[in-house]
Amino acid sequence: MTEKSILALPPSIRRIAIIGTGRVGSALAGGWVKAKHSVTLGTRDAHSDKVRALLGQLGAALATTIARAAAAAEVVVLATPWTAAQEAIAAAGDLSGKVLIDCTNPIGPTGLAVGHTTSGAEQVASWAPGALVVKAFNTIGAEVMANAQYAAGRPALLLCGDDAGARQTTAQLAADLGFEPVDCGPLRLARGLEPMAVVWITLARAGLGREFAWALLRR
Ligand SMILES: NC(=O)c1ccc[n+]([C@@H]2O[C@H](COP(=O)([O-])OP(=O)(O)OC[C@H]3O[C@@H](n4cnc5c(N)ncnc54)[C@H](OP(=O)(O)O)[C@@H]3O)[C@@H](O)[C@H]2O)c1
Repeated sequence: MTEKSILALPPSIRRIAIIGTGRVGSALAGGWVKAKHSVTLGTRDAHSDKVRALLGQLGAALATTIARAAAAAEVVVLATPWTAAQEAIAAAGDLSGKVLIDCTNPIGPTGLAVGHTTSGAEQVASWAPGALVVKAFNTIGAEVMANAQYAAGRPALLLCGDDAGARQTTAQLAADLGFEPVDCGPLRLARGLEPMAVVWITLARAGLGREFAWALLRR
């Protein structure tokens, strides 16, 4: 894709860099390619067999270094293990002014490695000064991200962040995947969303399996 064609994208189409080509990165990439967004994978090795195979499945996506993908994007998605998050953000370079969607969960061997008085998302924000950090896509499994279709209705996608515009952008990207976005407000609400991942994982392992999702009921 040339620089000119990138700049000519219509406003509803987002230029998205996804850092990490694992389960979450590939699930989100698949949905956003289908929704016609411009998706570039930021990876440690764009020529690996794994990345080539993923590009073959995705069709209309590109892969490059983390730095190049992030530099060209307006939305950067962090989908690495928690232990690699700081290194991956450093590799991405200056993210100021960009929406940075943090999908990570700071889960260590004995549970959450961060919590109560801060959150992984707030640490991510401290590592990426000026980035518009939104916590999202951390409370459900990658299988749900890959396919958000449920007979009972749209699954809820809880998100939070300190910038209203960034939350709106993320909400639209969640809706494009089939979710009902639920705006939880400021980034400190990640202190609640990250423990929800522990609950989801525990229930999945206890017998619910990996295809269940949260829903919001109103009356
Ligand atoms: N799996 C889930 O269902 C799920 C659901 C919600 C949230 N999460 C959270 O989302 C994050 C990603 O989970 P995942 O299951 O997708 O993990 P994964 O399958 O292990 O993939 C992570 C990817 O991160 C990249 N990576 C690894 N080390 C890196 C480093 N040092 N620097 C830069 N990139 C690195 C790798 O991509 P490259 O080889 O291309 O560099 C790798 O494929 C985790 O924090 C997890 O807690 C997972």
